[in-house]
Amino acid sequence: VWRCQTIIGLFFSLSVQPSRALVDEKFIVLVQNAPPGFQMTIHSLHHSEDGHSWEAFGHYTADATGTVNVSQDHSVGGTYSGVEPMGLLWSLRPVPGSKSWLRFRKMNVETPMEVAISVYQGHQTVFVDQVQLTSVVAERWYMAPGVRRIPVTESDLTATLFLPPGPGPFPGVLDLWGGAGQLVEYRSALLASHGFASLALDYLTPKITLKTGKMVKDDYFETAYKFLQQHPKVSGCRIAMMGLSYSTSITLKMAIYSEVMKVRRICFRNTDYKFYLLARFTEEKQAIYRDLLLPVPTDPGMKLDVGRLQCPLLLIVGEDDQNWAAPESAQDIKEMMEQAGNSHLLTLLSYPNTGHLIEPPYSPHARASRFKSVVVVLWGGDTVAHSRAQEDAWRKTLAFLRENLYSRKNSIAPVREI
Ligand SMILES: *[C@@H]1O[C@H](CO)[C@@H](O)[C@H](O)[C@H]1NC(C)=O
Repeated sequence: VWRCQTIIGLFFSLSVQPSRALVDEKFIVLVQNAPPGFQMTIHSLHHSEDGHSWEAFGHYTADATGTVNVSQDHSVGGTYSGVEPMGLLWSLRPVPGSKSWLRFRKMNVETPMEVAISVYQGHQTVFVDQVQLTSVVAERWYMAPGVRRIPVTESDLTATLFLPPGPGPFPGVLDLWGGAGQLVEYRSALLASHGFASLALDYLTPKITLKTGKMVKDDYFETAYKFLQQHPKVSGCRIAMMGLSYSTSITLKMAIYSEVMKVRRICFRNTDYKFYLLARFTEEKQAIYRDLLLPVPTDPGMKLDVGRLQCPLLLIVGEDDQNWAAPESAQDIKEMMEQAGNSHLLTLLSYPNTGHLIEPPYSPHARASRFKSVVVVLWGGDTVAHSRAQEDAWRKTLAFLRENLYSRKNSIAPVREI
């Protein structure tokens, strides 16, 4: 068997094109010169920064010319099935025996996510002690060539600015993440790769909070906004704000009530303005979060005044969100905006069988994961539907930002005062 595999290995060719790409770009995995009808497993393996291994694989049969093209051929088994050009990425999951409840997140965006793509003989499901016939490494980047990463420390901000290559000025995005805190950079890096100056901002665990023990207030977001607005590489009147999960409420609050932030376009995911989340915090925590978020409705019937929004709003909802009641909230927002007469500003994207964590395309799906290393949180979503939603939502997010921040039509329109 060993001799046979070695001989077959000599003739095989495996290519991944492009072998170096952005994480949201498609690649083509091609096996050639295999014996016609040869059964093989195409396998991907990634060693993450936090020391875990992730794998995905599909079972294929070479055609009469000895070829398998993952972009057009069926996988008959593995971690995905059917024609799935990017299944080797989105169906990545921790290898057997790994710690449970892992979530894939790239923290160092200055290095690529490396994925080893390999071919094994036969339809395999266990890869330990198996001989690879051939293997290549694909690099998946959040930062395109020429994108600059600039840590920001002034004005007590804990933030990182990503600038696209070129002279600018570029439209800006203020990019906020959810309730786990920390400076998460990968989405901003990717936005800069698509032409937006993007500021990733830590507001839950910034240095100032670690130093004083106090949560930041609204002026922290206004300072971040002003930093972006006044930056020479940023077009100050074309700024969007993006929130996810917990920060969607902050985004809405600032867009509606801030006198400083005349946010041009906002775009966010899985909002829940009623703060079902608050109910799960202790009294003490509730008091802290109350200042940071919106005025907490004392009367359960009281609603956030989204009717006052004056900027286009893109709302992205996973209908199987197990974390927050996002679909219901989105429906409420829609109705309120219709009543207030500003629903023409709303674009609602709602995805069936999609969970809470709508990440950039081809990111591995976690239905549940460890949160702040203490609890396991259920996020929801079915892997196939969720992955499709990630792809579609990201494409539409970029289109929304381009249309509203880049288009000529909008460049001459004055920013409406809130
Ligand atoms: C592989 O499939 C893709 C998608 O159908 C196609 O664009 C590409 O040309 C194919 N490559 C080869 C070498 O057949």
